[in-house]
Amino acid sequence: MSFVKVETDGPVTTVTINRPDKLNALDQAVMDDLFGAFHGLLKGNVPRAVILTGEGKAFVAGADIAAMQSLSPAEARAFAALGHRLGNLMEEAPFPVIAAVNGFALGGGTELALACDFIYASEKAKFGQPEVKLGVIPGFGGTQRLARRVGLGKARELVYTGAIIDATEALRIGLANEVLAPDALITRANETAREIAAVGPLAVAAAKRVMLRGEDAALPTANELEAVAFAALFGSEDQREGMKAFVEKRAATFSGR
Ligand code: COA
Repeated sequence: MSFVKVETDGPVTTVTINRPDKLNALDQAVMDDLFGAFHGLLKGNVPRAVILTGEGKAFVAGADIAAMQSLSPAEARAFAALGHRLGNLMEEAPFPVIAAVNGFALGGGTELALACDFIYASEKAKFGQPEVKLGVIPGFGGTQRLARRVGLGKARELVYTGAIIDATEALRIGLANEVLAPDALITRANETAREIAAVGPLAVAAAKRVMLRGEDAALPTANELEAVAFAALFGSEDQREGMKAFVEKRAATFSGR
């Protein structure tokens, strides 16, 4: 897996996109490696939280334009489908994925960050969907996930103009949760990942699933999903341990069962 580094430190795994000479541009090989990396995390000792970041000065400067320029419509359809499969895989994973956006997150970079649960941005981060400047539109979910994250009006403005925004603006519109000094970015992502790793993993997975599915459902349906998941957790050892530990005034030890 030459274009993606996967490093595990206890319950937290960091996935680093590693094609710095091309600003981590996503071609077929990088996408295959990313898909393989996230697929691999679902097997065996599943992490409690994952951090996604980029090597060098970019998070991801977009899909690989040089590779895309000669795609036929059918090949472009297949490439978009791969992007959607990767985004879905990240969203469907039982662990939260935190995007630690260290630099350029353009096109596919913003789209990849949007498929993460939330975004921490370095002061050096730049976001945008500049595809219209290349005569195309976002193809890895940007037209949909950006609108869901920042609202339709702002998403339309960004997608129609291809404007690039800095980290402060990303924070202001709710695209990024926090802006951090470059050398504080991974530390902050790790802190949050470890906070998540300390709580009930079944509860976090259920919250992630319900919040994802509920977003596109009518409120009564979404609330029903919540109630069903809430009830199911009362059949878990984690629920018994979490509440017993509170009553006994001690820290809970969650087993994920
Ligand atoms: N696809 C393919 N290659 C890319 C790329 C992309 N999306 N983004 C950067 N690269 C490559 C450059 O071609 C260059 O390769 P080279 O050294 O072989 O010439 C290398 O990465 C470094 O990029 P460079 O443009 O020299 O860096 P910069 O700091 O001057 O500019 C950007 C950075 C991000 C402003 C500029 O690279 C850029 O505009 N990239 C494309 C952004 C984009 O439109 N993304 C959406 C794609 S759908």
